[in-house]
Amino acid sequence: MPIVFYTENIGQNMKQISKYEYEVIKGKCYLYNDSFQNFKSYGIPHAQLIIADVPYNLDNKAYASNPMWYVGGDNKNGESELAGKAFFDTDKDFRPAEFMHFCSQMLIKEPKNGISEEEEEEKVDKIGNKVKSKAPCMILFCAFEQLHYFIELGQRYGFKHYIPLVFRKNFSSQVLKANMKVVGCCEYGLILYKDKLPKFNNNGQMIMNCFDWVRDSNTPKVHPTQKPVPLLERLIEIFTDPGDVIIDPCAGSGSTLRAAIQKNRKAYGFEIKKDFFAKARDKVLKDFQPTLF
Ligand SMILES: C[S@@+](CC[C@H](N)C(=O)[O-])C[C@H]1O[C@@H](n2cnc3c(N)ncnc32)[C@H](O)[C@@H]1O
Repeated sequence: MPIVFYTENIGQNMKQISKYEYEVIKGKCYLYNDSFQNFKSYGIPHAQLIIADVPYNLDNKAYASNPMWYVGGDNKNGESELAGKAFFDTDKDFRPAEFMHFCSQMLIKEPKNGISEEEEEEKVDKIGNKVKSKAPCMILFCAFEQLHYFIELGQRYGFKHYIPLVFRKNFSSQVLKANMKVVGCCEYGLILYKDKLPKFNNNGQMIMNCFDWVRDSNTPKVHPTQKPVPLLERLIEIFTDPGDVIIDPCAGSGSTLRAAIQKNRKAYGFEIKKDFFAKARDKVLKDFQPTLF
């Protein structure tokens, strides 16, 4: 179905535009081609949930132990053009403290009712239903080696609590080391929150901290470290309600915004690199479900 771009006389004409464009017009969504450090210029609303997949500062070791280091994935063929290359040129000077400052500023304030986390957990209404927390949280994808660093850094910015997350893949990108050692097949992350347990939608089900890494065959692949939209949708459904605001300060492909829009949440993101931003806007946020109005 062809997508017609938004034009100024939209009030008079019937136009077909993508859902992202529709949400942008309504002020419910925007991907900024800028650094999140400049967030104050944009006046975006505070978030119920921040999802961030920060650069690992791998620089030119991005493909180490990945078969893509070699032509055709085989070291007999010699090194490929990716040998000694970075995923992207911003993967070396990322500033975690500025990032944590952004997160502590841009989450909504926790409701202050002077009760402890344990009491909050037990809170029920007059007819005995559990009262849902409104407190925000952030979810950070990071390398295993970064987990302790981010737990400590988070504490310095008021995130007193954490829950570790594991994302289990059914494949490993470390196949070049498969005959020498146990290879990694997991990604890691953290839920960080300040004083109160965050909003949590579990429908009475136990939610464990190990998630399957669902393959995403629907979203155009435009970024070397793109996260699967179905996994992001799952996290969004657990920690937010429809209409809540989600921010991704390091948006890459725009996958978080796509997942948030699909789940009827408001979504804002920053991507510093022009080429990733353009691909996110023109592919990831363009190709899904046009809206007629
Ligand atoms: C690990 S990638 C995120 C991938 C993303 N989660 C996805 O699914 O596509 C991190 C991204 O943050 C961007 N970035 C680095 N520093 C940034 C900054 N200060 N502000 C905004 N984006 C930044 C990088 O260009 C890169 O695309």
